[in-house]
Amino acid sequence: MGRIAIFTDDPGWHGRQLRTAFATHGYESDFVSLTECRFVIKAGKNPLYIPSFEHDLPDAAFVRGVPGGSLEEVVLYLDFLHALKLMKVPVYNDGRAVERSVDKGMTSFLLQNAGLPTPLTWVLRDRDEALVIAEKELRSGHLLISKPLFGSQGAGIRRIEKMTDLMWLTSSRGVYYLQRFVHCAGEGFSDIRVFVINGIAVAAMRRRGKSWLNNVARGARCELIEIETEMAELAVNATATLAMDYAGVDIIKDQDGRYTVIEVNSIPAWKGLESVCDVNIAQLLADDLVKRHLQA
Ligand SMILES: Nc1ncnc2c1ncn2[C@@H]1O[C@H](COP(=O)(O)OP(=O)(O)O)[C@@H](O)[C@H]1O
Ligand SMILES: [Mg+2]
Repeated sequence: MGRIAIFTDDPGWHGRQLRTAFATHGYESDFVSLTECRFVIKAGKNPLYIPSFEHDLPDAAFVRGVPGGSLEEVVLYLDFLHALKLMKVPVYNDGRAVERSVDKGMTSFLLQNAGLPTPLTWVLRDRDEALVIAEKELRSGHLLISKPLFGSQGAGIRRIEKMTDLMWLTSSRGVYYLQRFVHCAGEGFSDIRVFVINGIAVAAMRRRGKSWLNNVARGARCELIEIETEMAELAVNATATLAMDYAGVDIIKDQDGRYTVIEVNSIPAWKGLESVCDVNIAQLLADDLVKRHLQA
């Protein structure tokens, strides 16, 4: 029987779904925390120690979570993923893809560089310059969003609405990520999450936030929506630009009806999405990993 390492510190529902899905292909899955892996550099030995895989490396690794931590810790976790791939173990999504998407500045750069629509964004170090940008935006009638460079699930995101908000404009560990606020089309607050696997948009939902923050983790309601061609193409192109096997792409439809990509998640959850559609996401992910990376 083949064996898959699922990197996670919190297997939960997603872990169970994946384990069941991999079992249909004859693969056993073990949950492993990246915090428990190590390099042991000794001539003639396997240099990567992964708990439960002491004797044989996994046939593949599925990345369900990369813990936060100091820069050194996060670099080490990513190094384990890079090392696995260099040792010819398929990593889904691989360390480079995770790296590109965890860093919101890099994501924004790559989207724009590929000619994909994404909001006006500034990523910089200097507080005085950040204040000048923010003031100018406010004066010209725009609202601004400030995000932690490595944030997820809506954590630490603020909206700057008026000059007095600038007093608490703070960097995330020395870096300012400022983005023009995009007013969404339709009633209330919402954005769109498109789930892409191997170049296909397999499901999409509207997330309706209690306020402008539309993360499911922040209490947004999920509604199934039809996958429009333009939305699907944008999500697929964004996923390809970030070179991911699969992704959860956050898109806003603005008040002029144009789609703009906010974020491309390399470790997206799918419990909320699955609560409103009958696509078995874990099965599609396992099928794709096995077919393209293990049977190829
Ligand atoms: N430029 C923006 N304009 C309007 N809403 C935004 C903008 N950026 C983020 N948001 C809202 O905040 C949510 C979280 O932002 P996102 O960049 O996806 O970070 P996270 O990694 O925390 O999910 C988005 O889903 C969206 O609802
Ligand atoms: Mg997001």
